[in-house]
Amino acid sequence: MPVVSMQSILADAFAHRYGVAAFNVFNDLTLDAVLEAAAQTNSPVIVQVSVKTVKQIGAGLLQLMFAELANRRPIPATLHLDHCPDFAVAQACLEAGWNSVLFDASNLSYDENVRQTTEMVTLAHRYGAAVEGELEPVKGVEDDHGSDEEGAIVTLEQAVQFMRLTGIDSFAPAIGTAHGVYTSAPTINYARVAEIVAAQPLPIVLHGGTGLSDTQFQQLIALGCAKVNISTALKITYADSYRTYLSAHPSEYNPLKLLDAVRADVVAMAKSYMQIFGSVGRAA
Ligand code: 13P
Repeated sequence: MPVVSMQSILADAFAHRYGVAAFNVFNDLTLDAVLEAAAQTNSPVIVQVSVKTVKQIGAGLLQLMFAELANRRPIPATLHLDHCPDFAVAQACLEAGWNSVLFDASNLSYDENVRQTTEMVTLAHRYGAAVEGELEPVKGVEDDHGSDEEGAIVTLEQAVQFMRLTGIDSFAPAIGTAHGVYTSAPTINYARVAEIVAAQPLPIVLHGGTGLSDTQFQQLIALGCAKVNISTALKITYADSYRTYLSAHPSEYNPLKLLDAVRADVVAMAKSYMQIFGSVGRAA
């Protein structure tokens, strides 16, 4: 059962308290490599894509590549659109057969966020797709989206009301993590994850995974973070791998050898996160 719903992947991870890695891929090589890492570790995996990459490659082509490459492997995989504030782009992905979207209306007022997210949930569920909801902007810039300023934090009551009113399938609260490379150690609000899950048991999404320690990941996963986002680490591995290979092989011009080396490094990086998150062997 290669391509499955986001709901089924998150339900199992949340129930058994392991994390499913959600990697931000940006081309066929990185897409194939994270699926290969999942196959080698018998892990479920979430392939996610930024809006910027969707605009460059196209929602239809990305879905075709994903389905073709995922169907070659006997592990559960699902395709997700990361931080999308644009209703039309999310709708285009759903129409192209994507499994899930993060409709990010976190820059709008609470009431407007509830209204637009509810509309997105109605649309996505018609396609059997899932919606990740966000109320507070996650700190840090990701593919031109976001801000380095800390966003306002809502009360527990508002967060729970948002989850109930909108019918979202997972929730991404601000808990002190940030997109990109950490310039100072993050102060993580574990209690907030615990109180949200206690009040409304819905899978929590951990943004800003790059740079967290194994212990931080594992504590957050144990509290209910079922989807764990990794973007910057993949970009760093990818770029560094090119640099390392080219400087070690200055007269090699066979692109397939170069790409094989980069792919192997991305597979190894993805596998190491799957081990930390406890998803190894969880592909049902
Ligand atoms: P990092 O870039 O810190 O890994 O965060 C990824 C993320 O949260 C994507 O939404």
